[in-house]
Order: sequence, then C-alpha cells, then structure tokens
Amino acid sequence: MIIHDRIAEQLPEWRDRVATLTRQHGKFKICDVTVEQIYGGIRGVQIQVTDISYLNPLEGIYLRGYSIGDVLNFLPCEQGAEYPLCGGLYYLLTVGSLPTLEEAREVEQEWQLRSQVPKHVFDVINVMPPQTHPMTLLSAALTALQTDAVFPQHYNNGNGKADYWKYFLDDSLTLIGRLMTVAAYIYNWKYQQRKYIAPDPALDWAANFAHMIGRDSKDYQELSRLFFLIHSDHEGGNVSAHTGHLVCSALSDVYLTCAAAMNGLAGPLHGLANQECLRWLLKVYDHFRGLPSEEQLSEYLQAQLDAGGVIPGYGHAVLRTTDPRFTVQVDFANKYLPEDEIFRLVQMVYAVLPPLLKKQGKVKNPWPNVDAINGALQHHYGVDQFDFYTVLFGVSRILGITAHAIWSRALMKPIERPKSLTTRMLEEMVGLPPGA
Ligand SMILES: CC(C)(COP(=O)(O)OP(=O)(O)OC[C@H]1O[C@@H](n2cnc3c(N)ncnc32)[C@H](O)[C@@H]1OP(=O)(O)O)[C@@H](O)C(=O)NCCC(=O)NCCS
Repeated sequence: MIIHDRIAEQLPEWRDRVATLTRQHGKFKICDVTVEQIYGGIRGVQIQVTDISYLNPLEGIYLRGYSIGDVLNFLPCEQGAEYPLCGGLYYLLTVGSLPTLEEAREVEQEWQLRSQVPKHVFDVINVMPPQTHPMTLLSAALTALQTDAVFPQHYNNGNGKADYWKYFLDDSLTLIGRLMTVAAYIYNWKYQQRKYIAPDPALDWAANFAHMIGRDSKDYQELSRLFFLIHSDHEGGNVSAHTGHLVCSALSDVYLTCAAAMNGLAGPLHGLANQECLRWLLKVYDHFRGLPSEEQLSEYLQAQLDAGGVIPGYGHAVLRTTDPRFTVQVDFANKYLPEDEIFRLVQMVYAVLPPLLKKQGKVKNPWPNVDAINGALQHHYGVDQFDFYTVLFGVSRILGITAHAIWSRALMKPIERPKSLTTRMLEEMVGLPPGA
C-alpha cells in the first residue's frame, strides 16, 4: 500500500534524527514550568513533538508545513470538484508530502475496500436508548469496531516493536474506511427514523457521507470535503489529540485510542463548542426576529459582555488571529450561500464583536475560531441537529489522531508518564508554610 511504502522509505532517516537528538542532546532544556502553568492546565508547556501539524498563534494551523489555504489549493481534486479529496489529505498527514491525484485516489480506494462494517457494530448502536448522545454512540461504535483490530494479534504473537507502526497503519485504514458508514448510520438512526442508505462506490469518502445521510447535492458534497479537511488536525496539545497520544502510548490500538479521543472531544469545552455557537446565533436571530442593524447588534453584544457572558466562537487558547479555518468557510459561504441570513449574521458578528472584545480587554484573542461559522453552514443544508456536529468534527479529527498514532509507533515513542507533585511540595518549593 502506497502510504506504507512511503513511510517505510523515510523511516530510517527519522529514527536516526530522533536517536541523534536524544543521544547527543538529551539533557538540553526546552523550557521551565511555573506553578501557574501546573495549576493552569499546563498551558504553553512544550512537552510534545509532532511533525504532522503545528499551530502558529499568528497564522493558524500548518499541516505538514502547509497552511489551510495551501492545503485547499495544492491537494488534488477529482474532476469537476472544487475541494480536494480527503484521501489526499490523509496521504499528506501520514507521508508528509503532497500526493498526486492518483496517489490520493489510491488512499480513497483503500478506504473503500475496507468499508464493510461488521453487523455487531450496528447492533451495539441499535440497543442504545433513543436519547443517547451521538458522541456516545460514536465512542461505543469505535470500541465495538475494535474486535477486528490486527495490532493486538501481532503484539500477542511477539512481533517486534519496530514493526508496530505497520499494524497501526493497517488498522487506521480499516477504521477510517468504516467510519463514514458508522457516522451516517448514527445520523440516520437518531434523526431519520433509522433509514439506511448504502454507500455509493462511485463517490469519494467525504461525498459518500453526504450521500448516506440523504444529501446528494453537489454543494453539500463540497461542504463535506471542506469540513473533513479543515478539522482534521490541530497540533498535539488539544484535549482529543493529547488523549489519543496518551492512550496510544500504552499500546492501545487505534480503535481504543480513537474512542478515548472522542470521549475527550465530547466535552463542552472542546468539541461541543460548535453546537453552542449555532445555538447562540439562532438565539440572536430570534431575539431580533431577523437580522439586526449593526448598532442593535453592538448594543446586544455589549450587554452580554457586561453581564459576564462568553460569546461562543470567539477566543482561542493558542491562536491570536482570525482562524484561517473560519476564513475558508466564509469563502465557501460567500460562493454557495451568500444570502443565507444566519451566515449574514455570522459576518455581522465578525464586523462588530472584535472591537468590543478588544475594548473590554479581558480576552487574549478577540478573533473568531473555526466554530464561529461551521454550524451555520450545516444548518443551511438542513443538518440542524446540533448534537451531531461533534460527530462530524470527530470523523475529521480521527484522520489526524490516527496519523499521530502511526508515527508515534513508527518512532517507537515510550509510554507517557509525567510526574505529579503534592500541594505541600509546591508550598515547600516556594517557601510557604503548610496551608498558608
Ligand atoms: C476558547 C476559550 C475556551 C479559550 O479560553 P482561554 O484561553 O482561557 O481564553 P482567555 O485566556 O482569552 O480568557 C481570558 C478572559 O477572557 C474571557 N473570554 C474568553 N473568550 C471570550 C469570549 N468569546 N467572550 C467573552 N469573554 C471571553 C474569559 O472568560 C476570561 O475571562 P475571566 O478572566 O473573567 O475568566 C475561550 O475563548 C472561550 O470560552 N471561547 C468561547 C467558546 C469557544 O468558541 N470555544 C471553541 C474553541 S475552538
């Protein structure tokens, strides 16, 4: 398989680079950690290495050195499509260079060959109560898919550590091949009276999702490609990526790794923000019974800030500029749904809110993040079941998480095990009496 061969070619050099760094510069200090950082979610502490993506606070995410704009411009598209194949993105994430159209298609074909979902996975979903959150269903389905994992068999056979990455790649391709059918099944089970639409072998991975949830318009196919491309990875430190890395370091296979990562993504401070953002936009729209004037909106937002409210979709833990993933979605909307009133409200908030946030002076980043618009786009195409948005996010994020997992095993990273301190130890270090 093409990804396997490309990784195998470059692996000796990568292993050598890591060995040189650790052998010759193992004691070199990267940063100091402060008490504030320990109590503050280890913000800004540089404790991980990944070459798959890097989040530049002033420019946004780079995937293998390519900005979001470059990813959309340079990855190959099928004839007649505006947005690239996700198979090409996966080649970029795992191999590290841009694929040709043929190479991107090869990845897509590999996914398709592996796409048959075992019946027991649907059975697991079917026995859940109807009110189950779609992220719970996704997590359960990923765990149920684990029965087909090949890595545990190879591990139990005593196959060497240097080869683990091959089984992780194998499992990742199968998992991703089956993921779309599972996600669409969850959507249909939950919101479309359990109807089942079989995948169309003529469609690419992302367009097939659109098809399987009964949205066959070319526009929604394009939106699906865009959505799954831009949410795929965001460095290693966010909750889902970090969880995936940690769990994978115990040599849990990619199914268990991704299920754990999705449980992190399901938290309201992480992957649930997109649904909160759309809910808020619709509330504003209802409040004004339509689009407000800029003055009305400004007053409304100011009142919300004065009351201590947090405006969803604005701010970021690392970014200090408008998220480029927001910008490319605005470009999409300008082309495909310029008159949509919720999109126009998104643009008005973008014009009015940043100066108010700057004036308030509390928030470190007054600019929109990816979530300030993505729900509005789904809403336009009738995918207005807010709870489901995190599943869409998760499907995309699994592309990044599995790429990290393959490379963690390829570089034979050890089990992760940071050290804890007690409060008393910290008090002693800074010279405070106990319980001061
Ligand atoms: C993303 C987010 C969690 C980052 O948190 P953070 O790194 O702690 O943000 P900051 O350091 O800038 O926060 C400093 C202050 O600004 C406030 N603030 C941050 N974002 C704000 C927003 N969108 N609206 C109003 N106030 C905001 C915080 O509540 C905090 O106030 P406090 O000092 O009274 O506690 C935060 O900006 C947020 O909650 N945004 C809205 C939700 C969202 O869009 N989430 C998706 C993230 S991709």
